[in-house]
Amino acid sequence: MANLSNGLCHINSFVNIPTVKFTKLFINGEFVDSVSGKTFETVDPRTEEVITEIAEATKEDVDIAVKAARKAFDSGSWPRMTGAGRAKIMLKWAELIEQNIEELAALDTIDGGKLYSWCKAVDIPEAANLLRYYAGAADKIHGDVCKTSRDLHLYTLMEPVGVVGHIIPWNFPTIMFFGKVSPALAAGCTVILKPAEQTPLSALFYAHLAKQAGIPDGVLNVVPGFGSIAGAAITSHMDIDAVSFTGSSETGRQVMMAAAMSNLKPVSLELGGKSPVLIFDDADVDKAVELALFGILHNKGEVCVAFSRVFVQEGIYDEFEKKVVEKAKTWVVGDPFDPKVQQGPQTSKAQFDKILSYIEHGVNEGATLLTGGKTVGNKGYYIGPTIFSNVKEDMVIAKDEIFGPVMVLSKFKIIEEAIEKANSTRYGLAAGIVTKNLDIANTVSRSIRAGIIWINCFFAFDIDCPFGGYKMSGFGRDYGLEALHKYLQVKSVATPIYNSPWL
Ligand code: NAI
Ligand code: MG
Repeated sequence: MANLSNGLCHINSFVNIPTVKFTKLFINGEFVDSVSGKTFETVDPRTEEVITEIAEATKEDVDIAVKAARKAFDSGSWPRMTGAGRAKIMLKWAELIEQNIEELAALDTIDGGKLYSWCKAVDIPEAANLLRYYAGAADKIHGDVCKTSRDLHLYTLMEPVGVVGHIIPWNFPTIMFFGKVSPALAAGCTVILKPAEQTPLSALFYAHLAKQAGIPDGVLNVVPGFGSIAGAAITSHMDIDAVSFTGSSETGRQVMMAAAMSNLKPVSLELGGKSPVLIFDDADVDKAVELALFGILHNKGEVCVAFSRVFVQEGIYDEFEKKVVEKAKTWVVGDPFDPKVQQGPQTSKAQFDKILSYIEHGVNEGATLLTGGKTVGNKGYYIGPTIFSNVKEDMVIAKDEIFGPVMVLSKFKIIEEAIEKANSTRYGLAAGIVTKNLDIANTVSRSIRAGIIWINCFFAFDIDCPFGGYKMSGFGRDYGLEALHKYLQVKSVATPIYNSPWL
């Protein structure tokens, strides 16, 4: 069981936790109450206590936000200004984020149970990086002059797609926000963003900073609320031109159906995963253990690309199993503000209960629980690192995305078997390979159907690297210049040349 000595009894003693300043909807450049006056609670998963009440957007609020975004797109300055003009404002926003890193990191920690040190070092700086990357692209968007065999001057324009709906989940409130909003704004779109109901705090702070940076009214609207109400109002809206969604495959299906049943808006979906990591006999076992644990325990396993299925070749299996269990037992679970802590609480009661019920299911199905499987402490949504072995492929814990600190460990003999097992999932988001052998690395990376392959690493993202899924992990890519193109559409313009038969 994980080390309980840190954190839990010293809550709030590591960092000065800021009071929450922004709790209302951000529509047309103003913080406003919801039309219904409804609010919802956002909870601190460390303490199970309510942090504050947040205005809850319903269909009426989404309608108002869409009207504002529509006006800002159809007649406002944002799509009409130069790319350099948009870039200047986005760069200012990035600067303001950097000036508020600690407060923003603390908001994601109290709202989502994320490690404060990671938020400060990675998540919040990444927001500024994303803004800067796409700001750099904003003045380089142009079409082509087409070579034609007819008497035509033919060229293409790259135009912003229009009003965009963004629906994001709760595991990376900051990175998801800027992974979506930055390319859309660079392209000249206007945005309605719905943060997850579990983690609305930082999104509202970002809206405040956007206004300070000079993002014009109506260009960015943030509407916290529930998926089936505010989320559904976005996906089914006749005046939203495109939707980009990250979350579960089941909700992704609903998003696609709502888009199909309304105005046929294009959607892009970044969905769940059950990502494998294949560890070969030639691997350094200690390093492989570290990588596999980081792969499943990072962000308490609430990671769409988590290495939740670990396949180890038979020559090193026994040593690996012994060492990974030993190391998992030393993993420090506790208050995510404590710098010594490696794993904080699950984001919500619902997710906590879901993970525990999967663990119970695994035990009932006959898998061997090697370590963990229990809650940690008596307050907060803490679950100890959990490892199962003797898992059959048709067991629920081997098939479903658990989205928690639960590793499923299996053995393989030969490379073909490893590839077959890795691909035997409905998902295809990520995969890992641990080997020093280039032939193995090259063969396996081409044989696995997944959107990103990490060789001897995990979570090695870069903004320049497109990211998204194969199979039921979705389609469309965030990050990279590919994401920019999600928010652009191509218009062809033809002019007959003098004496052309077209005249
Ligand atoms: P979810 O996919 O339902 O929620 C993600 C976002 O979609 C939230 O903002 C939510 O309000 C919104 N949403 C929910 N229903 C909607 C609808 N009908 N129309 C439009 N938007 C809607 O995920 P949930 O329920 O929070 O978590 C359930 C499971 O989903 C997790 O246990 C995990 O397995 C998976 N998940 C995967 C994520 C990923 O990054 N791939 C992120 C979050 C959850
Ligand atoms: Mg919360």
